[in-house]
Amino acid sequence: MKTIAVVVNGALGKMGREVTAAVCRDAELQIVGAVDIKAVQEKLPLPDGSGDVPLSTELGVILESCNPQVLVDFTIAEAAIAAARTAIGQGVNLVIGTSGISDDNLKEIDRLSKASNVGAVVAPNFAVGAVVLLHLARIAARYFEYAEIIELHHQEKADSPSGTALATAKAMSEARGKPFTYVPTKKETLGGCRGGQVDGVAIHSVRLQGLVASQEVVFGAQGQILSLRHDTMSRECFMPGVVLAIKEVVKRKGLVYGLDTLLDLKGER
Ligand SMILES: NC(=O)c1ccc[n+]([C@@H]2O[C@H](COP(=O)([O-])OP(=O)(O)OC[C@H]3O[C@@H](n4cnc5c(N)ncnc54)[C@H](O)[C@@H]3O)[C@@H](O)[C@H]2O)c1
Repeated sequence: MKTIAVVVNGALGKMGREVTAAVCRDAELQIVGAVDIKAVQEKLPLPDGSGDVPLSTELGVILESCNPQVLVDFTIAEAAIAAARTAIGQGVNLVIGTSGISDDNLKEIDRLSKASNVGAVVAPNFAVGAVVLLHLARIAARYFEYAEIIELHHQEKADSPSGTALATAKAMSEARGKPFTYVPTKKETLGGCRGGQVDGVAIHSVRLQGLVASQEVVFGAQGQILSLRHDTMSRECFMPGVVLAIKEVVKRKGLVYGLDTLLDLKGER
């Protein structure tokens, strides 16, 4: 069987290590090189004990010498867009999971990848369950007048509410074409206990040691409640989505934004 050759950018980071392990586990994929700005050795030992691959701080050098079909990037936004330009310039398909890629950057990636005849997948969330939850929340939003979101994360998460919770609330109101109805509490004896509010959806953020990442969307109507909940137990949750993107990106030209397109969910809104 012909395997898809993969280089990981940010290979020494938390997600990069997880992606390297996932690529090693998949018989259709092969890791051929690794890049990280923190690299001090020239070889990366593979987590499955099958040997090692070239490791460097220089992406261009690794792409040139290892000749991958796909570059997977989990770094920081500025590094990811620089990596995109380099990879596309060398005819390498691209999977980016790094957060904070701007709309202008997305347009540039689309333009460059089309011009070079390569594929690019950029997805802010590779957890299949989270993407499916958003899809179901959009459907449910059309049938309910009231909704609240509870998002739960580990205590070190820098921001609250989560970007996913904000995006979910906005997508839900967009799906119904108007804001939800928010019923204010007459007397709030503890400020902030009703959470923040976006388009009539109250968002509550829990920050607690022991949690990884969870989100629950609760819809209310007369005499009934619909709850949609997704729980993340570890970074492994992102790997089926990343592996799917690697296998799909080699078949496509230009930019695909979001895992929902690869899961055939976009057309079903
Ligand atoms: N799309 C998703 O589903 C998803 C899931 C989890 C995390 N993320 C995002 O992925 C990114 C990485 O997350 P993480 O937890 O692995 O972070 P991390 O800090 O553990 O790893 C980032 C790695 O990138 C390396 N790096 C930084 N600049 C670089 C450069 N110029 N060239 C090469 N390597 C460079 C760092 O040395 C580090 O090893 C973040 O933006 C995070 O928000 C996305």
